[in-house]
Amino acid sequence: MNAPHIEPELFTWEFATDPYPAYAWLREHSPVHRTTLPSGVEAWLVTRYADAKQALADQRLSKNPVHHSEDAQGKSKTGIPGERSANLMTHLLNIDPPDHTRLRRLVSKAFTPRRVAEFAPRVQELTDHLIDQFAPTGSADLIHEFAFPLPIYAICDLLGVPSEDQDDFRDWAGMMIRHGRGPRGGVARSVKKMRGYLAELIHRKREALPERPSPGEDLISGLIRASDHGEHLTENEAAAMCFVLLFAGFETTINLIGNGTYALLRNPKQRLRLQKSIERGEHELLDTGIEELLRYDGPVELATWRYATESLDMGGQRIASGDPVLVVLAAADRDPARFEKPDTLDLSRRDNQHLGYGHGIHYCIGAPLARLEGRTALATLLRRLPDLRLAADPADLRWRGGLIMRGLRNLPVEFTAR
Ligand code: HEM
Repeated sequence: MNAPHIEPELFTWEFATDPYPAYAWLREHSPVHRTTLPSGVEAWLVTRYADAKQALADQRLSKNPVHHSEDAQGKSKTGIPGERSANLMTHLLNIDPPDHTRLRRLVSKAFTPRRVAEFAPRVQELTDHLIDQFAPTGSADLIHEFAFPLPIYAICDLLGVPSEDQDDFRDWAGMMIRHGRGPRGGVARSVKKMRGYLAELIHRKREALPERPSPGEDLISGLIRASDHGEHLTENEAAAMCFVLLFAGFETTINLIGNGTYALLRNPKQRLRLQKSIERGEHELLDTGIEELLRYDGPVELATWRYATESLDMGGQRIASGDPVLVVLAAADRDPARFEKPDTLDLSRRDNQHLGYGHGIHYCIGAPLARLEGRTALATLLRRLPDLRLAADPADLRWRGGLIMRGLRNLPVEFTAR
């Protein structure tokens, strides 16, 4: 990709649609770049792969917003709408060691790769059920009818939210996604309701917890039971943990399915190769393909906020103590210094240590679940709707234009009804 000759404008409509030329310019001319965000907050953008990887693991960059020099203004900077009002500060993405180490160890005991692997048949069932709803019609908006409900129902099931309450979660999550960067009132109310509901559910499950775990026990019970050197999560910590699992897990997975399907539809040769390999029952191309889709147009454009706890040098710039540092994963993952032909989608790419799930101690704890959902969703779509095609001019598609996430508002498709 050729970078523009002059400094590009960031955070415009064009930028939301295709930020990659602007990121190419930044990588080349201003790899650690001071900018004013749409919220008015000043921050550094880190766009080269090597700097990004280093910054993600740099303990001098704190996740705790108290370190922000502008914190007194009370702006929410974590990307979680309504968070302050709901007082959900003690979750993994907002804290540093040693608190982070303790909470992460406890959640890791319950949210294990094995638990996720055992959940695979349920994810397949949910996927098929959603496709059953629109397959006979010959058209769908894949975001609203597929990518959005799948992760919500999946995480609700995994946590152990009773099925009769899951539509409430769907509504609250919808409100957060639609208005995450808009009017705060409705969002704050949704966050409050979700938190209240989770607190009560956790309390009820704790009261009813049998002495020994039973096979297939839900994740909330697993979180309550988890212990490390005799320590447990408090009910408040467990509620904040469930909230961050929900929040960090649903919009990201929607975007993996949405951006991933869109990239396949725009790259017909690659899509055909994948489709054939899925039909043959092979896994290899699907496995490397999911990673490549994450690298090529991943769900998380910028990692969540970090703040310098002391002044430090990065990419030839002096970052002052208290300055926010935003690591641009989308730019790092297209860095030609790290990836061969970075702007080309190559589903069989092997040397692919992308930063789509982050790096270091905050590396995505939900990656096994995201991979399971992404693989199941894309493979089932391509297998069941083999002539799936875009039903809109790409120029007419709208991207959400948020700061942290990158995802489509809608994705109209057509196919032979079946
Ligand atoms: C952290 C990406 C799905 C839960 C992260 C981070 C990234 C990320 C980049 C690190 C953020 C940072 O360092 O600032 C993704 C992507 C996903 C995905 C691309 C989907 C394709 C999920 C799912 C869950 C989840 C399904 C849970 C159900 C979390 C949590 C953290 C995290 C709790 C914080 C970990 C910590 O701070 O120790 N994710 N995520 N994510 N993710 Fe994911």
